[in-house]
Amino acid sequence: MQTTFFHRIYSRAWKKKQLQKYSDLLPELKALVSGKTVLDYGLGKAWLWSFLEKKKIKAKEVHGIDLNEEAVKPRKKGIRYYFSLRDFREKNNDKKVDLLVLFDVMHLMKEKELNELKKVVKKKCFILVSLPESKKGLLHNLKLGKVFWEGKIGKEEVDFACLLKPS
Ligand SMILES: C[S@@+](CC[C@H](N)C(=O)[O-])C[C@H]1O[C@@H](n2cnc3c(N)ncnc32)[C@H](O)[C@@H]1O
Repeated sequence: MQTTFFHRIYSRAWKKKQLQKYSDLLPELKALVSGKTVLDYGLGKAWLWSFLEKKKIKAKEVHGIDLNEEAVKPRKKGIRYYFSLRDFREKNNDKKVDLLVLFDVMHLMKEKELNELKKVVKKKCFILVSLPESKKGLLHNLKLGKVFWEGKIGKEEVDFACLLKPS
């Protein structure tokens, strides 16, 4: 009971920080998401998608992968959920996506996992990354793509965000 209470308070505070970051990216998100096939890796509670729904921004398909079944509860209608990249690829005949979202997850992933992601992005895909400033060096090590745009997002918590194009 107590754990649930603290979890709720923590989630609410965290949600506000995430919403501030999404708001800062609103014009970019509108262009990147509308009518596109998107893979949101480490989507958690899909707050990004509830935010975009309120802004009337609609993707063609949203696929979400998370490591943890608890982290995605409650699941959001309209999103297709998976718990590994392999599962996503098997169920979708190696489908490739127009936009890969890595929002506050890249620094939690293993290098091997990140390299595997290259297999699911179209040549003309964009990769949207948000991560703590202190971790932005990861982007250079990984060579996921060329930086097309970069900036800072958020108010209470400021992240480094960038848009990559696969090279
Ligand atoms: C900080 S939360 C960010 C959630 C969401 N992207 C957002 O914008 O609020 C990180 C999420 O990534 C998930 N995660 C952590 N490591 C992962 C991994 N290696 N593969 C997939 N998901 C992972 C966690 O379970 C959690 O839901």
